[in-house]
Amino acid sequence: MATAIINGLNATSHNIIISGSSLPRSREIAEQLEVEAALSHQELIDQSDLVVLGIKPQMFEPVLAGLRFHQPILSMAAGVTLERLGKLTDPNLPLIRIMPNLNAQILKSTTAICTNDKVSAELLSTAKEITDSFGSTFDIPEKDFDTFTALAGSSPAYIYLFIEALAKAGVKYSIPKEKSLDIVTQTVLASAENLLQGSDSPHDLIDKISSPGGTTIAGLLDLEKTGLTASVVSSIDATIAKAKAL
Ligand SMILES: NC(=O)c1ccc[n+]([C@@H]2O[C@H](COP(=O)([O-])OP(=O)(O)OC[C@H]3O[C@@H](n4cnc5c(N)ncnc54)[C@H](OP(=O)(O)O)[C@@H]3O)[C@@H](O)[C@H]2O)c1
Repeated sequence: MATAIINGLNATSHNIIISGSSLPRSREIAEQLEVEAALSHQELIDQSDLVVLGIKPQMFEPVLAGLRFHQPILSMAAGVTLERLGKLTDPNLPLIRIMPNLNAQILKSTTAICTNDKVSAELLSTAKEITDSFGSTFDIPEKDFDTFTALAGSSPAYIYLFIEALAKAGVKYSIPKEKSLDIVTQTVLASAENLLQGSDSPHDLIDKISSPGGTTIAGLLDLEKTGLTASVVSSIDATIAKAKAL
């Protein structure tokens, strides 16, 4: 995820310094991404206006122990609350929590952002400049992060399952898999763009496609007969329940 974010940030005017699991590894990655490598985590912290933490949640305690922070910190770690981040660093510092998703790889992440009460409007704007560099940003209260993670973090997997199911239906009716998948993927992409670009709601668009007595209404009613909406909401319930239990 850190690499995806650096790829976005490289298109902005920010200077980027990295410090990874070892100095040789940091130098190797820095060369690939055309950024600087710090000699140590503390050296990076001492030179930076903002520290971005890209480590796994379970690495927070061992990596942060002994480091002295004196500037705003931005964390992307799943499940690490602002309160816990403050305990591991300094609760008096401005702290920012974000939740990006896999689409950061193509600079189209859907990212949630929240902060503690030490973050100024100017700092929030800088943080959003960073998150916007690899996608789009949504202000989400921290209490809703688990829901956001289900809707934007996990949902690409559910959307891929839907795409795969439609493509299989094409195969059932003799369209080769690759072609079927391409047809479905292009349709999903254009349907999302149509929704984003226009003023119609999903319902308005569904009504436009559903001619009276036609094929679409027959398929739609069958989808509801087998409980698509209930099934989707139930999967989001399960995702949120799991996130809260972690
Ligand atoms: N992947 C996602 O879709 C996703 C989505 C939302 C949030 N996140 C969050 O993003 C964070 C990173 O996840 P990831 O999937 O990108 O994991 P990852 O690919 O395993 O990356 C882990 C990063 O931690 C660095 N690291 C490991 N040990 C370190 C140490 N001792 N000191 C400093 N850096 C160290 C690694 O650097 P080296 O390359 O030098 O080993 C690497 O850059 C996690 O907190 C995760 O919750 C990920």
